[in-house]
Amino acid sequence: MTILDRFHLDGRRALVTGASRGIGRAVALALAQAGARLALSARTETALKPTADQVARYGGPPVLVPGDLADTGQAALVDRAAEALGGLDIVVHNAGILPTAPDGSTLLAPLQYLPQPVWDEVVAVNLNATAALCRHAHPHLARSDSASLVLMSSVAGVVGTPMMEAYAASKAAQVSLARSLAAGWARAGIRVNALCPGWVRTDMTAAVHTDPALTDWLLAHVPMGRWAELEEVAAAALFLASPAAGFLTGQAVVVDGGLSVPDGGLAGIPKPSSPFVLP
Ligand SMILES: NC(=O)c1ccc[n+]([C@@H]2O[C@H](COP(=O)([O-])OP(=O)(O)OC[C@H]3O[C@@H](n4cnc5c(N)ncnc54)[C@H](OP(=O)(O)O)[C@@H]3O)[C@@H](O)[C@H]2O)c1
Repeated sequence: MTILDRFHLDGRRALVTGASRGIGRAVALALAQAGARLALSARTETALKPTADQVARYGGPPVLVPGDLADTGQAALVDRAAEALGGLDIVVHNAGILPTAPDGSTLLAPLQYLPQPVWDEVVAVNLNATAALCRHAHPHLARSDSASLVLMSSVAGVVGTPMMEAYAASKAAQVSLARSLAAGWARAGIRVNALCPGWVRTDMTAAVHTDPALTDWLLAHVPMGRWAELEEVAAAALFLASPAAGFLTGQAVVVDGGLSVPDGGLAGIPKPSSPFVLP
């Protein structure tokens, strides 16, 4: 066995939520390329089709287990995935949302202007669904001889993130949940980690990457000065899912180009003034 063999997932059974696009699709492709058999989830089967077609190129068609995770009862999709795959070794719970306005656009606003129902929706999808999904995943992962649960949190969960308090609080809660579950489930052989990406250009961040002023301002706060590539996040997820991370549990792995590293103002990176205009 070489060290690179530890990154292989041959024969492993993996569920990826939020797999219809963006980071979830990249994670699904990474796990499939490493040899895992996959179950994919998003709200509809139709939305999963493009990812399923790409995954099928690496070792066969995936199982599709759609469900709207705003309803915690839908976390039973984990059981459907395990039944179809004959068990589960890996769960990457990646589905998540930003606050949205009634017209569907992203709502970037400080807490004092954020309506309670919007807070409730973010917490329902990002936190309550995570807890329900972990609860359903436990018996399946406990039967695996190499179990890994990865919660897709965010750098917003480890630094202060004004204008996105609901999102940041829900993502911090995922980090906390990963730590608690890691300690509680370690003797059952289940590793649990949170993965915390910085800014990634996806549908979720369209409000930013379609606004040059906002993009310039945000990237000025990233020491590496750029967006993360999808594959840079997917590679970290693959590592956490694989035996290569066999002694790594309870951690928040931050993939953010240095965004969360305080520079004390000494890095000399010019910071343009904030483009946010408050009411
Ligand atoms: N993009 C970033 O900069 C960034 C940074 C840090 C962390 N993250 C985290 O990474 C994860 C993926 O983000 P992304 O940028 O790839 O987002 P995205 O492109 O908006 O994709 C979100 C995924 O979540 C699914 N989803 C949303 N609401 C759902 C619900 N109620 N039930 C089931 N599935 C639902 C979507 O599926 P359907 O819409 O097809 O149902 C889609 O597959 C999220 O947890 C996000 O918080 C993103």
